[in-house]
Amino acid sequence: GRASIYTSPEHAISDINPLIYGGFTEHMGRCIYGGIYDPDNEHGLIDETGLRTDVMNCFKELDVPVVRYPGGNFVATYRWQDGVGPKDKRPKRPELAWLGVETNQFGTDEFMQWCDKIGALPYLSLNMGTGTLEDALAWLEYCNSDKDTYYANMRRANGRDEPYNVKYWALGNEMWGPWQVEQHTKEDYAKKACQWAKALKLLDPSITLILCGQNGHSDWDRYVLQQCIKWTDMHSIHMYTSDFPKQEHYANAVAPRAAERAIEITASLIDFARCDIDMSPFPDEISTKARSKHKPTICFDEWNIWDPVRAPGNTGAEQIYNLSDMLAMAAWLNVFVRQAKYIGMATVAQSVNVISPLITTERGIIKQTTYWPLLLFSKYMRGKSLAVHVCSAAYNGRTCPEFLASTVELPLLDLSAALSDDGYMNLAVVNIHETESTEVALPEVNGPVQVFTVGGNINQIQDVNVEGSEKVYIRQSNWDGNSDKFTFEKHSFTLLRWKTQVTGANKT
Ligand code: AHR
Repeated sequence: GRASIYTSPEHAISDINPLIYGGFTEHMGRCIYGGIYDPDNEHGLIDETGLRTDVMNCFKELDVPVVRYPGGNFVATYRWQDGVGPKDKRPKRPELAWLGVETNQFGTDEFMQWCDKIGALPYLSLNMGTGTLEDALAWLEYCNSDKDTYYANMRRANGRDEPYNVKYWALGNEMWGPWQVEQHTKEDYAKKACQWAKALKLLDPSITLILCGQNGHSDWDRYVLQQCIKWTDMHSIHMYTSDFPKQEHYANAVAPRAAERAIEITASLIDFARCDIDMSPFPDEISTKARSKHKPTICFDEWNIWDPVRAPGNTGAEQIYNLSDMLAMAAWLNVFVRQAKYIGMATVAQSVNVISPLITTERGIIKQTTYWPLLLFSKYMRGKSLAVHVCSAAYNGRTCPEFLASTVELPLLDLSAALSDDGYMNLAVVNIHETESTEVALPEVNGPVQVFTVGGNINQIQDVNVEGSEKVYIRQSNWDGNSDKFTFEKHSFTLLRWKTQVTGANKT
């Protein structure tokens, strides 16, 4: 088929925050134990502290800038105090999110050391389920205080003199969810979140607080933003796409467009809350009224493709991703680049073993199909997000989540564009079409083009990467840029790069 696309290095929309390539590691399944930390590994895959070196190398290759921890649902009963100090003194506890036993052999200091080794910033979520404000303040003091006080001294006694200066702190996780220990109503949550935020910022005004939103298009999101806007630096939303139980390719691969709509709606709710100055039930000194230029961004701190039938949460959620999922992954990342002006951070859920692009075995690591778009985006889709337009064959069937279904036709050619600071145009193109390649004229191209292709003619839509058989990988080639049209192979993700005269550095 034929299609046309438009983009220009002159038409920058906004900076792309590098934090959109963040990760998430939860005490769930084999994410921490057996994933990040594997002290009993007999194949020499660990360093002197029991951390998996192959996993750390992948995080470095992906250049992951920030990692959320320790949950997720796990955090709702987590006592951070259990996970610090001598390991033989750490208590084992029943774990109520995934119904296991938490040994606490990996805790705050181990996570900080791991972040340091991979060069990522830590992002901690607070227990607003069974945890108290006192616990939260104590954790913040343990991590960030340079004073001569109890928890700062506990950190020193545990071997760390300098504060960790953790910048990102989440006010709970999915507090609206019926599966949550201490599920909250939106009214209860908003009231508590403002009070916690005020106290946390008294202790450390430099922190960035992330409010617990829902999916970005709910009444919970509207209400908590209206009540807490003053204390909110970022608003967190979560969404998982897939097409369960049918597993149809098109519904699966276009589904990330639902996230794009959710981002647009969340951005509107943030603006709405900023404008709304009359609804706070609190006295003035703790009121939520936002009369300033204060403008929270969106923290999309759980996103991915997750089919709960293929990968149930209570059995560790190890999903094997096929080529269709790889295309969905690239489509998700296109959403973040296109919507860069609203996104302050995004952390893929999750980063190791649990619904993850990486699977560890005793013997090594498997890079799943979805690893490759993540790597190409993180390497090249940086700098400025550029306006894009596309005209191509479209899909107008069922989607999952469904709320998008009847709204628009969804193009089967999905793209985003970035102008990097070194003056390269980077075009990320997903050809979702299962059976047809698509020819496109690229008028902006002048000169040689680097081409990276994942999937395409050499693959089937159901192909997966498993131990001993990795069918999906990056193919690299060059295109002279002179021929009339570029052909995007069927069911492929392609990243094109070429040098322009415009540099990202001098555009706003
Ligand atoms: O990422 C898996 C789980 O999904 C997280 O623990 C939870 O926050 C979400 O429901």
